[in-house]
Amino acid sequence: MTEFRDKVVYQIYPKSFKDSNKDGFGDLQGVIEKLDYLQELGIDYIWITPVFPSPQKDNGYDVADYCAIDPRFGTMADMEELIRESGRRGIGLMLDMVFNHTSTAHEWFQRAMAGEKEYQDYYIFKEGAPDRAPTNWQSKFGGSAWEYVPQLGKWYLHLFDVTQADLNWENTRVREALKKVILFWKKKGIRGFRFDVVNLISKPEIYEDDHEGDGRRFYSDGPHIHEYLKELTRDTGIEELVTVGEMSSTRLEACARYSNPQERELSMCFHFHHLKVDYKDGDKWALMEPDRRALKKLFEQWQTGMQSQGGWSALFWCNHDQPRIVSRFGDEGRYWKASAKMLAASIHLMRGTPYIYQGEELGMTNAHYSRVEQYRDVESLNYYMILLGQGKTKEEALAILAARSRDNSRTPMQWSAAAYGGFSEKEPWIAVQDSYQKINAAAQRYDDSSIFSFYKKLIALRREKAVISQGSIAFLAPDNADVLAYRRQWEGEELVVLNNLTAEETTVTAEPAWTAYRKILGNYENTAAGAEGQERAAGQADEVTGSRPDRMGERMAEGRIVLRPYETVVLEK
Ligand code: GLC
Repeated sequence: MTEFRDKVVYQIYPKSFKDSNKDGFGDLQGVIEKLDYLQELGIDYIWITPVFPSPQKDNGYDVADYCAIDPRFGTMADMEELIRESGRRGIGLMLDMVFNHTSTAHEWFQRAMAGEKEYQDYYIFKEGAPDRAPTNWQSKFGGSAWEYVPQLGKWYLHLFDVTQADLNWENTRVREALKKVILFWKKKGIRGFRFDVVNLISKPEIYEDDHEGDGRRFYSDGPHIHEYLKELTRDTGIEELVTVGEMSSTRLEACARYSNPQERELSMCFHFHHLKVDYKDGDKWALMEPDRRALKKLFEQWQTGMQSQGGWSALFWCNHDQPRIVSRFGDEGRYWKASAKMLAASIHLMRGTPYIYQGEELGMTNAHYSRVEQYRDVESLNYYMILLGQGKTKEEALAILAARSRDNSRTPMQWSAAAYGGFSEKEPWIAVQDSYQKINAAAQRYDDSSIFSFYKKLIALRREKAVISQGSIAFLAPDNADVLAYRRQWEGEELVVLNNLTAEETTVTAEPAWTAYRKILGNYENTAAGAEGQERAAGQADEVTGSRPDRMGERMAEGRIVLRPYETVVLEK
């Protein structure tokens, strides 16, 4: 099995990463151009989201051909060059396998529509009257999860967009065809795979109405999911690679099993419970301030649960489906730098493999779009109409999109202060975030106190200290909801990580032994910052390097440590 615990993965959303051919649309040559930047950051793997031929209704997650490259992104030769050039820099490439569904433009679906029974069995078609869908299940992008096809007199299931038809994994032919896809890419030198919403592939035997929800309880972590994953892994040999499954509305026990090495399914799982603590009543489209107590509790529950059950988590705040974390749980203003760094440290030092989403290492913020015309995402556009239908005003609906839209993370990567953030010379497919003149890679790359440099240090630290990748985790400060604190231990090594999640000072109880611990990382300067000094000091470089005095002892008066706004402190025994 490949070692993945001491690695860091960088996620690229190629459409918004770098445009090399001046069409306003990012491409594979653009990624190649930026490999030196990624090598400097120090990452081990790139996970690139789908670049396969696709109508782009869901930005490539509607795949029309799994074994080719969409000309918008380049050619197969570009992909081969990317694999080679990444490899030369010690970086492995991971591809995104969207195996729960295909685009309705895929040949299989087209043949199904043309009446070929064999291909209808590739999907989930159900007989039924045109005015009554087989079940009341809802699509994750809004509306019914079923679409009626008049010429066939049948409905097909689509848990996502109407152009994303769910595959029938019960059909051996489907499973065999998908294994071939993996083997095709493996042969090209792909070093890992991310499996899109893979815990939704096993549907229930009986299709029935859900009177308690939208249907997800019937197909999330479905009846044959473990069998299917074991079979896929066994028959493709992907155990030698890094694999991560995106798990939608999953359970801890299921995730532990997917990622327990003894089960031989996947290397690790993405699970999302910590990113729902600002959903009011679990509804993504109902705004609420983040519930920090819940956040802390969820981290503790999942981290210790995965540990005791032998599972492994992907650690992440951001991806192409989530708003930017600094805008969400941090502070875009006064504590922009400090909060971005604290949020980074808080998850990179947990038990799991960290993922960085493009621009996160620069502290990129939400899009702050003010007009619906600026949005591109199918989910956002659907929900805009749904929200208006629910009686929300345009302003209210726009305020919700501004907080929740997936487009928040899909704005072009901010490379420099040049036009369009240096992403392209032509107007990009989606508007650049206004802050690009301040927040960009050129401004941060050689600044030792930048967010970029802080991520670099975190990545380097994982290499240096085995306790980060191998150690056990236990949570501290149970009574202070504002502080996310934990201890990592491994063969006599120990780290204590304290994170103030808020813009207010807060105190944590210190263990007497900590006075002798060495502070190895922080996000404030080592000087005691007064109120005015804080703004300047927030987020300044603070790594204790030999000569500078370690002031932790002084700060630990009466068995307590005062943490500054969004402060992160990493202590080593
Ligand atoms: C995953 C992807 C998301 C996509 C969905 C359907 O959640 O991350 O972008 O829309 O699956 O494929």
